[in-house]
Amino acid sequence: MKKDITDRNDLELIIKEFYMKVRTDKIIGHFFTDVMHVNWETHLPAMIDFWENLLFFNNDYEGNPMSIHKTIDKKHPMKKKDFNRWLKLFNTTIDYHFEGVNAENIKMKANRIAKVMQISLDKKIKKA
Ligand code: HEM
Repeated sequence: MKKDITDRNDLELIIKEFYMKVRTDKIIGHFFTDVMHVNWETHLPAMIDFWENLLFFNNDYEGNPMSIHKTIDKKHPMKKKDFNRWLKLFNTTIDYHFEGVNAENIKMKANRIAKVMQISLDKKIKKA
């Protein structure tokens, strides 16, 4: 039986492993390496803060992910297949290490946020 996600250390493991996969991924890696030139030293802690806030409500992450992804989308359109790949890598990373209420919760939240992002980006395209 695997353990559940219980604290920031667990999130750190997930985020580090997830972005190791993401940055070399054939489908979405280029968003992080070529489109945005992500600074990993700031991006990884920001992502841990983001998830700590959503899962445990004990972090005051104050970023604006929607606006960041609109900027990315303008430079290089983010498609449905890209979101599907992001979710696949995210869910696989969670399932490899963890199981339980929080493990299900984080996957559900990621899935919902990905849907909202896609709807919001599509609207922007239709308005233009
Ligand atoms: C196709 C899917 C996605 C791609 C290609 C993508 C790409 C990126 C990139 C390149 C950045 C860094 C921007 C920068 O620092 O310059 C970023 C930031 C971020 N992403 Fe995504 N993303 C995707 C989906 C998601 C999803 C589904 C979530 C949430 C569930 C998410 C959450 C975040 C957050 C919170 C940040 C900002 C962190 C901060 O405050 O600095 N992303 N994303």
